Amino acid sequence: MTNRPPLNSLEATAGDDRHPRRWDPVVKTTHWSIVAAVLVNALVTEEGSGAHIWVGYALSAVLALRLLWGFIGPPEARFSAFLPSLRHAFRHVRNIRAGRKEIHVSHNPLGALMVYVVWSTLGVIIASGIAMAGPPPIASLGQPGTPPAAVERSDASSDHGDEDEEHKDRQGEDGLWSEVHEIAVNILYVLILLHIAGVMFETRRSGREILLAMLPSRS
Ligand code: HEM
Ligand code: HEM
Repeated sequence: MTNRPPLNSLEATAGDDRHPRRWDPVVKTTHWSIVAAVLVNALVTEEGSGAHIWVGYALSAVLALRLLWGFIGPPEARFSAFLPSLRHAFRHVRNIRAGRKEIHVSHNPLGALMVYVVWSTLGVIIASGIAMAGPPPIASLGQPGTPPAAVERSDASSDHGDEDEEHKDRQGEDGLWSEVHEIAVNILYVLILLHIAGVMFETRRSGREILLAMLPSRS
């Protein structure tokens, strides 16, 4: 009898064909929903508009589901299968340089670091977006005609001194969050380029169907 590693081990031995990479429907659906939300907010919706904010709330719900799945999902989707580790990441780089191939049941150690950085960046985008737009109006969900108000960029000030001060404070605070939001969005764009380059590189290098495994048709 062969001594095979457990299914949720971080790495399987090379040549072990028991571990083709498989992603369950929740991982696939949340991945492509996040991609769709980022693309729509980057390219379609008007910055700060009601639609932009609703897409943002949807993005937060999808991300929350994926993070919950990291605790209760199948072994390869769990955080325990791809814990962030610089040591493992460096070892992975050494393996790449030495031309050694390993099979990973979940994200490889470099990919894992990238996943956590992407998730954290999305977290900053969502937090700063919600700081400007307010939390989702859960209480009014289901009542038609109550979309979140778009965030105004107007410089208009009121006639009253106190209200003027409050208005300025709020604008200053929103300006700060707006900066954070914008910087995090730009970081995300760079990460996405690196992520796609990484997926292409790993697909070519490992000869495994990394990309196909994330497509809906593969079960
Ligand atoms: C990853 C998806 C997102 C992308 C690509 C994105 C992109 C942007 C960009 C480029 C801006 C203009 C820069 C700025 O003024 O800060 C902006 C503004 C804004 N976004 Fe997002 N955003 C995303 C997610 C969100 C989320 C999750 C929310 C809230 C739920 C949100 C709410 C806002 C608001 C309120 C503004 C207006 C900021 C202002 O008036 O200065 N965004 N977004
Ligand atoms: C907005 C753009 C994108 C974002 C934010 C993004 C983010 C992510 C995240 C967070 C994961 C981890 C999935 C999980 O464990 O739940 C992932 C995995 C993956 N993504 Fe993307 N992604 C984007 C675009 C793409 C595109 C365009 C492709 C196709 C070329 C792609 C292919 C993949 C693949 C194949 C994996 C699995 C990698 C592995 O097996 O380790 N992604 N992506």
